[in-house]
Amino acid sequence: MIFVTGGAGYIGSHICVELLNAGYDVTVFDNFSNSSPEALVRVQQITGRNLQVIRGDCRDRDALITALQQSQTNAVIHFAGLKAVGESVSKPLNYYDHNVVGTLRLLEAMQVCHIRTIVFSSSATVYGDPVHLPITEDHPLSPTNPYGRSKWMIEEILRDVYRSDPSIRICILRYFNPVGAHDSGLIGEDPQGIPNNLVPFIAQVAVGRRERLNIWGNDYPTPDRTGVRDYIHVVDLAIGHLQALAVLKNIDHERNDQSFGCMTVNLGTGQGHSVLDVIHAYEKACGHSIPYQMAPRRSGDIAVCYADPQFAYKILGWKAQLSLEAMCRDSWRWQSRNPNGYQK
Ligand code: NAD
Ligand code: WQD
Repeated sequence: MIFVTGGAGYIGSHICVELLNAGYDVTVFDNFSNSSPEALVRVQQITGRNLQVIRGDCRDRDALITALQQSQTNAVIHFAGLKAVGESVSKPLNYYDHNVVGTLRLLEAMQVCHIRTIVFSSSATVYGDPVHLPITEDHPLSPTNPYGRSKWMIEEILRDVYRSDPSIRICILRYFNPVGAHDSGLIGEDPQGIPNNLVPFIAQVAVGRRERLNIWGNDYPTPDRTGVRDYIHVVDLAIGHLQALAVLKNIDHERNDQSFGCMTVNLGTGQGHSVLDVIHAYEKACGHSIPYQMAPRRSGDIAVCYADPQFAYKILGWKAQLSLEAMCRDSWRWQSRNPNGYQK
């Protein structure tokens, strides 16, 4: 049984599909603060399998202990947390509470229940402004906002837990820019309020919910002067988690295979795309133009960021397969069939 915190969210719902399709049993633990139970109904519709859903908050250790015991969990994938960079600057305590305290409570509950395997959602944001590209896992860590620092703190906590007990199996996955949706068009990203991220914003312009996109900055030192990122299809990302689980399961502690006991791995494609590249790919996917205007840089943004994905291939045998075209096509299929997200 795999216990998925935050499993109703954007990335979590996609991992649930891949887990169920691979034959795992799944329990989702989510407080639905940024998601809808409907996502999990759709996950079951896509896979034809049931999953167990428990409404609960990761800061509640007793609720976690009960849920872990009830579900007979073998491993945890921990997505639950808050993720809006701007909001983390105005509400830092809330971010440290949900993200850091939530993870502490989860680790305590896992200890009580003797569960020793965890995959954690970290972020490329822990690297801060890149000092070299592509970004390898040993790049210095220098997050520039409370959200990023919460991820960095959790990583340090996990490394300390591992040092205290090297028989624990931990995989820290640093995602670059997850976008796209499942190709069924039934699940996808459904941000509350005004989207912060590029692709969900473009999707809402494409479907007519918003008038035009602001391109934050056209004076970057990049080929077309707009920001460059490593966009990765959410289904590729989900498959990376399955690979991580498989590798953690096969670690042989008898052989003292300790270098693999706490892995930190980038999940990206290794390819950078500019804001204009994404707009053009989306226009192709939806068949009409996306109105946009140039606007000043967004505070805290960096010019270029893309992963070195070689370690992921070496250690997990994983490589992203899906192109920017597929990301936009699948995002558009989801958005056009569900113009208001999960809301009917
Ligand atoms: P999301 O907001 O869609 O999903 C997070 C889920 O966690 C939601 O269902 C929410 O209701 C739940 N949740 C939040 N706080 C909780 C709590 N205290 N207890 C229980 N449930 C709680 O976000 P996502 O995009 O699916 O991201 C999943 C994880 O991946 C997050 O940890 C995020 O920081 C990380 N991440 C996301 C991105 C991205 O661009 N989407 C990039 C890097 C890392
Ligand atoms: C991408 C590019 C913007 C919106 C954030 C978090 C990061 C991670 C992923 C969680 C940039 C430009 C965007 C818009 C625009 N999340 N843009 N107009 O900033 O790379 O990363 O999400 O861990 O931590 O910081 O992603 O999608 O917001 O921006 O021009 O309306 O699109 O300037 O160049 P970002 P993004």
